Amino acid sequence: MPGAEVLTRLPGLIDVHAHLREPGAPHKEDWDSGTAAALAGGFTTVLAMPNTQPAVTGRAALALSLDGAAAKAHCDYGQYVGAGAGNAEEAAALAPQAAGLKLYLDQTFGNLKLDDTALWFPHFERWPDDRPIAAHAEGKTLAAVILVAELFHRSVHLCHVSSREEILLIRKAKERGLPVTCEVCPHHLFLTLEDAPRLGAGRCEVRPRLATPADQEALWEHLDVIDCFATDHAPHTLEEKDSPNPPPGFPGLETILPLLLTAVHAGRLTLEDVTTRLHDNPGRIFGLPEQPDTFIEVDLDENYTLGAAGLHTRCGWTPFEGQPVRGRVRRVTLRGELAFEDGNVIAPRGVGRNVRNVQLNKEN
Ligand code: NCD
Ligand code: ZN
Repeated sequence: MPGAEVLTRLPGLIDVHAHLREPGAPHKEDWDSGTAAALAGGFTTVLAMPNTQPAVTGRAALALSLDGAAAKAHCDYGQYVGAGAGNAEEAAALAPQAAGLKLYLDQTFGNLKLDDTALWFPHFERWPDDRPIAAHAEGKTLAAVILVAELFHRSVHLCHVSSREEILLIRKAKERGLPVTCEVCPHHLFLTLEDAPRLGAGRCEVRPRLATPADQEALWEHLDVIDCFATDHAPHTLEEKDSPNPPPGFPGLETILPLLLTAVHAGRLTLEDVTTRLHDNPGRIFGLPEQPDTFIEVDLDENYTLGAAGLHTRCGWTPFEGQPVRGRVRRVTLRGELAFEDGNVIAPRGVGRNVRNVQLNKEN
C-alpha cells in the first residue's frame, strides 16, 4: 500500500562504550549533546568512558561527571572509573557507583595507559567481582590481559576488538571456558585501511586503527564470538581532526544502527543478532537494570544517505559521510514517555537515570 509505513519495535539499545567528554571538553561533546545523539541513534543507555579532563580516577572527578549527567542526560547512563597507577583502592571503593573499571593497556587519547603489567594486579585484586572490568588491549596485550584476569579468577570484557589475531585469541579463550566477553565497533566492521586515503590523514585516525580487509572479514566470520556491538563514540571536532596533531576517534552513536540494519538487509546478520549484541548481552554483562516500557521504533525500509547534517553530536562530522543505508530510527520511548521522534529529542535534560542508582535503590 503506497504511503503505509510499518515501524518495527526493538528494545532500547545499550552502548557500553562511549566518550561523552564531560568533564573537560564540552566543545567536543557533553552529557547534553552526547545523550541527545544516543537517543537519535536508538540508545536508551550509554556507559561513559573515564578519559575525560580531569580523568575519572577518583571520587571528586566521578562526582563531577555524575553531577553533569544528573543535570543534563536525556537517557540513562553509567560512568566508568579509570584504572591508574596508584588508585586501585579508591577505584574499588567507587565500584558500586561505577559502570565498570576501564583499563587502558595500549596507547590512545588521554594519559591513562598502564604500561607495567604489575600495575594491573592491584586492580584485578581489589575490583569487586560483581562489577565488570573492561580493557583496551590490542594484539599481544590482549593475550596478557586474558592471562592476568585468569590468574585473578575473574572475568574481563575486551573493548573494540579489531583484528583477526584478536578475535581468534578470544575464540580460543572462550573455547577453554574462560569468562571473557568482547565488543566490536561499527568502524571496524564497515571500514578498513583501504578507506583511509578517502577519509584523509586526520579523519582516518582511530584507536584501534582501521585494519586490513582480512581483519574485517575475520570479525564477520567470527560473529558468534562477538558479545556486543559498541560505538566507541569518540567525538573530536573537524578542526582538531584536520590539525597537524589529530586526536584519534570517530563519532558513532547516530550511525551504528542504520549501518547494522543495512547489513541485515544484505543478509550478513539477522535482526536478532543486532538486538542480542546491542541490548541483551550488554545488559547481562554489565548487570544493568531493566528499563520498563522502553523501546525504539525503526523504519526498516527507509533508504537514505548518512551525513553530518542533522546529527546531534557536537563534533559535526561522521566517517560514514555519503554512505547509503536502509533503516532509520523514527521514535524512542523511555519509561513510557516519548523521548525522540523524527529527528527531534523530546526527553528533557536530566530525565536520564544513573544505572547504578536504580540498582542501589532496588537493593535498599
Ligand atoms: C578514544 C577517545 O578519543 O577518547 N579514541 C579512539 O580512537 N577510540 C579513546 C579510546 O577509546 O581509546
Ligand atoms: Zn573508547
